[in-house]
Amino acid sequence: MSNREPAFPITEKAYAKLNISLDVTARRPDGYHDMLMLMQTISICDELTIQPERDGLVHAVTSLPYVPGDKRNLAVRAALKFLELVDDGERGMKISLRKSIPVGAGMAGGSADAAAVLRALNRAYGDPLSARELCAAGEEVGSDVAFCLLGGTALASGRGEILQPLKALPPCAFVVCKPDFSISTPELFRKLDEAKLSCHPDTEGLLDALEKSDLDGLCRRMYNVFEDVPDRRMRTIRAAKGALLDCGALGALMTGTGSAVFGVFRDAAAAEKACETLKREYRFCRTAEAVGALL
Ligand code: C5P
Repeated sequence: MSNREPAFPITEKAYAKLNISLDVTARRPDGYHDMLMLMQTISICDELTIQPERDGLVHAVTSLPYVPGDKRNLAVRAALKFLELVDDGERGMKISLRKSIPVGAGMAGGSADAAAVLRALNRAYGDPLSARELCAAGEEVGSDVAFCLLGGTALASGRGEILQPLKALPPCAFVVCKPDFSISTPELFRKLDEAKLSCHPDTEGLLDALEKSDLDGLCRRMYNVFEDVPDRRMRTIRAAKGALLDCGALGALMTGTGSAVFGVFRDAAAAEKACETLKREYRFCRTAEAVGALL
């Protein structure tokens, strides 16, 4: 049992991610897929508060009725994992999540919440786990949790847990729009397995453009192989990308397995202007900026 009494309440922000690129390079024997993804943390975030609960249970309460509060919630799984690792398994806590990251959007909302729980609890307990140990705990909770822990700009490979931190993106701003449907990640992976991919992102070219802080070069090469999966909903995704480009985006892409789509703009003013127009069409439409490393 940890000899340090954590100071409650604990608060933390859980930042969403965008995929600047997404490639699936192989299907693995363990049922997962090998990925190669350029990832970016953005300012759209959920807000967490963790308070003690006398009954010894760990549960979550959220602002969205359809987000579960039990072990199906990655934030709860992350807290249980942390308490097991610091040998404080009898501890009860309530994790309140004020959700702003849309669910089923490809923005790693659940993973961001889990990562924020791990970061916040580690801080509150006096940093008993190293960054490496935290990432290992995160990996067990979900494939995107390690990136959400680390944050910033990174190349993710393996299941998504092997991370190479990269130079920050050149100055830019984002607009994120989500069509009114969500996409199930396992479902889209299944459809991808049945499809034959003929195009892949130019990851080397993307890394080169990033190294040169060449925003146009990055935007030209943004690519997500999930957009090529035969699925009726991709028509709506393409329309959303078109709408962002019509509003002046330098590039537009679906993030993760969707359904959120984002555009990259030269600056915040251009993004704000586009967002004003697109809000008429998309219930979820927000501007965002890049966020640097979190650990
Ligand atoms: O790891 P996580 O629970 O976030 O993954 C959710 C689902 O996405 C997995 O059950 C799997 O179907 C799929 N997935 C995959 N390959 C990855 C990451 C996720 O096939 N690298």
